[in-house]
Amino acid sequence: MTSAARPIGHQIIRLPEAVSTNTLVLESPEYLENHGLVVIAEHQTGGRGRVGRDWASLPGRQLQFSLVLHPPLPREQTPLLSLVAGLAVGKCLTRELALRPLLKWPNDVFLGARKVCGILLEMKMQGGAPQVVVGIGLNCNGAPEDFPPDLQESLTTLAHETGRAVNMQALFAALLAGQQEAYDRLLAGQQTSLLEEWSAMAALEGRALIYPTPEGPRPGKALGLTEEGHLLIETAAGATHVHHSGDLEWTE
Ligand code: BTN
Repeated sequence: MTSAARPIGHQIIRLPEAVSTNTLVLESPEYLENHGLVVIAEHQTGGRGRVGRDWASLPGRQLQFSLVLHPPLPREQTPLLSLVAGLAVGKCLTRELALRPLLKWPNDVFLGARKVCGILLEMKMQGGAPQVVVGIGLNCNGAPEDFPPDLQESLTTLAHETGRAVNMQALFAALLAGQQEAYDRLLAGQQTSLLEEWSAMAALEGRALIYPTPEGPRPGKALGLTEEGHLLIETAAGATHVHHSGDLEWTE
């Protein structure tokens, strides 16, 4: 079997604790070389989020894991993996728990106005080919009150939203299967339909937002996605801005 043909989760390394599963994988050449490897930790002491944020860990009540992908895609298409990973999580929550998640560019998953899942995608180039680490943090059991006070208003957990304890092992298996399905579709050239599904789950078109610029935050309106998964924003002056990175704020 070639490395790329190995399924996601063909090998799963389970740890009681890691500083950050993403860091661990990125710093271990033998892990990074292993397409489909998954490293999951019950607790992270230094979990990392996007744009330099920390990721708060609730030991044993979250799914916190990183998976390795060697996508046979040109480098400019690798940002798509980020959107596709979020879409796969959203679809899994719909299928398994009958929830109605909302995606926020590029890959946060919300339930109502509160975030339930964050994804950190990092990459190293090896011989001209990308080795990608997709780090997923999903708040499963416990309640918003279990998080540090400054996060309690903005985060939620699946148990809090459904009123039931979550079977984390079953959900983990479903998440890996969902990532595999979405990855296969991307490689099979179904980029357009994946982006359409992403936009629908984000209720994207026409959404009012604030986006960062070197001159400070600016108001705008989401127009859609480019083929590479960048966000098209209509500026207050009516121009079209292509947004590549940086956090957004929905204002409606
Ligand atoms: C974000 O919301 O900004 C992204 C959060 C990503 C958290 C996950 S948990 C597993 C993996 N290891 C990390 O250190 N971060 C990611």
